[in-house]
Amino acid sequence: MERLQKVMAQAGIASRRKSEELIVSGKVKVNGVVVTELGTRVSSTDQVEVEGIPIVKEDNVYYLLYKPRGVISTANDEKGRKTVVDFFPHIEERIYPVGRLDYDTSGVIILTNDGDFSYLMTHPKFEIKKKYIAKVKGIPSRENLRKLERGIELEDGMTAPATVKMQSMDKKTQTAIVEITIHEGRNRQVRRMFDAIGCPVDSLKREEFAILSTRGLNAGEARELTVHEVKQLRVLAETGKIG
Ligand code: URA
Repeated sequence: MERLQKVMAQAGIASRRKSEELIVSGKVKVNGVVVTELGTRVSSTDQVEVEGIPIVKEDNVYYLLYKPRGVISTANDEKGRKTVVDFFPHIEERIYPVGRLDYDTSGVIILTNDGDFSYLMTHPKFEIKKKYIAKVKGIPSRENLRKLERGIELEDGMTAPATVKMQSMDKKTQTAIVEITIHEGRNRQVRRMFDAIGCPVDSLKREEFAILSTRGLNAGEARELTVHEVKQLRVLAETGKIG
């Protein structure tokens, strides 16, 4: 028996949180009866309907895409721009991106139809680490790098502690390359953090997402995650340790 919202998320209906909203608002039926109780558990033989449509359990699929710049990380774009899902024309399952990367940011992004897994990867309480390589204008001082590490005040509050490392600097062009690892996923967070120290980001790449990296892929290429990687990522979110 599984919680109803988990079954819905796993079927790719919506995230666990969105699924809870659907339940509470009376849009979900189990065996023909409206259920608004969040604790409800269902088994594989129970018939679940969302807004009158029976949910069909698809096999869960997990992909890693090395997102190029100039691609939007939503499933659809009303402006008709290329999306991360467009890189998977051959996939039958309805996959969507786990979290987001800005249009101009490149790097690792996971796509899946497993809403429950997506929740584990994106909710800040699970502290999944993401490593970014930022090319910035100006050369950040040690003190400013320390500020980024300790936490810096942004308009939506203090950032959580981060790991920051200067990779290289070019005094002639007054640019630097800085590695920064964060576990939050606020909108344009890395760009805003560097803006806050007066060194705007010129280009940004997410080089690592927990145990995953762009290694072995060119921008625009994708691969399936292995069963072991999916398991490791789940364990990492649930226990904070790699299994
Ligand atoms: N931080 C940003 O500023 N942009 C991203 O795409 C990801 C993290």
